[in-house]
Amino acid sequence: MITLDPTDILPLYRQLYQALRARILSGALPAHARLPSVRELVQELAVSRNTVEGAFQELYAEGYVYSKPRSGYFVAPLDQELAPRPTPARPPAAPEVPPAPRPWRYDCHPAHLDPASFPVETWRRCFTQGLRGRLEQLVQYGDPQGEPELRRALARYLERSRGVSCRPEQVVVCAGLQQSLELVAQLLGPQHSVLAVEEPGYFMPRAVFANHGYTIEPVSVTEQGLDAATLAASTASVVYLTPSHQLPLGGVLPAAQRLRLIEWARSGERFLIEDDYDSELRYHGKPVAALQGLDPEGRIVYTGTFSKVLSPALRLSYLVLPPTLVPTFRDRFASYFCTVSLLEQRALTRFLEEGHWERQIRRMRTIYRRKHDRLLAALAHRFAGRARVLGEGAGLHVVLELTAPAPPAAEVLKRAAEPGALHVADGRLLPGPGAGGDQAPGGLWRAAAGGGGGRGGADR
Ligand SMILES: Cc1ncc(COP(=O)(O)O)c(C=O)c1O
Repeated sequence: MITLDPTDILPLYRQLYQALRARILSGALPAHARLPSVRELVQELAVSRNTVEGAFQELYAEGYVYSKPRSGYFVAPLDQELAPRPTPARPPAAPEVPPAPRPWRYDCHPAHLDPASFPVETWRRCFTQGLRGRLEQLVQYGDPQGEPELRRALARYLERSRGVSCRPEQVVVCAGLQQSLELVAQLLGPQHSVLAVEEPGYFMPRAVFANHGYTIEPVSVTEQGLDAATLAASTASVVYLTPSHQLPLGGVLPAAQRLRLIEWARSGERFLIEDDYDSELRYHGKPVAALQGLDPEGRIVYTGTFSKVLSPALRLSYLVLPPTLVPTFRDRFASYFCTVSLLEQRALTRFLEEGHWERQIRRMRTIYRRKHDRLLAALAHRFAGRARVLGEGAGLHVVLELTAPAPPAAEVLKRAAEPGALHVADGRLLPGPGAGGDQAPGGLWRAAAGGGGGRGGADR
């Protein structure tokens, strides 16, 4: 007995198709059995001829039935053993609960920007102008490496302001660091299977390379950055590092270490992945040039992002490949498409070409220098003599090292989460030097405290 429900959102012919298909798959209608005729079903179910014919046509198109001229439809022979078992009714999913607003008085999360800092009007104008560009491109797939105009604009900017020396052919437009690293992990080839990462360091590269089968070898960093001698003693043939502003300790990799790393890469066909994520934001002292500029034809993969100065929500970043990897890239990803929308790319090209990007950098430096200085003043006042700030003077975070005998991690996190407290970068606590457990010897605690934005940022 088949029953159809006219109030169901599923059309009647689809309901009938599903009912007949279920009988065929369960064997209730065995192979070569004749299906009732259209007329019989029309009468039995009080539905239109179109409904029955629609269901039969669907079953026929999918190979559940075959037809014999002037005899009707018959069940096709199927292996019932292979038929999917009916799934038990699932309990209704728990409704999604939006996260409760956090009670932070100051949101210092290092990856959140001040909402007032996004140049809404300028971006809107660049985006609208981009819509008016060549129409035929809007209905096609773009260049797999990213639009050539954008790659040219990026190469010019990187040369001018970061000392990166590259040709537009080396630039790949990406949707964030994660995607850049996914590409690099696949590009490097089977002779590379161990990635060295900074310890402490950014979690993302570890996750991406581990997902691609790499072994991750943490190499400890000092306040100046990754130690080349320790790296040389490891089995890694690729290293991910943040030489201009180590995440999180904030060190700048000294020139001597840079040269040693370049030599390490050259001498063993190894690769350096330089993440230059926030180098635009240096508040005091001279900007630090990129490592890539020291060996542009060598073995450095350079990555940068628009997340720290424009917006992490746009998902816009870039990769500069060393010349040796460009042919492999084109070969390996010949059937891939660019993951960044053409319209966003056009908007960004205008943003760069019309000087808005450099204006935005200057604006963000002013906003964040003030936040940074206010944060340091507040920390000095609150923690006088009981804490030390590391890695100040750049970027969107500093590290606070609690030097006096400090409470256990759980207590620090609890206090940091109290209403009216400072939002301390996801509550991430870094063990002090040499510590592996919950609390470092001597009671040292380091908390990564962002200089980021949000409600009532530190300069308000
Ligand atoms: C070290 C580092 N690199 C890069 C990024 C930015 O990545 P994306 O371009 O995916 O936003 C971040 C963001 O927090 C970061 O901490």
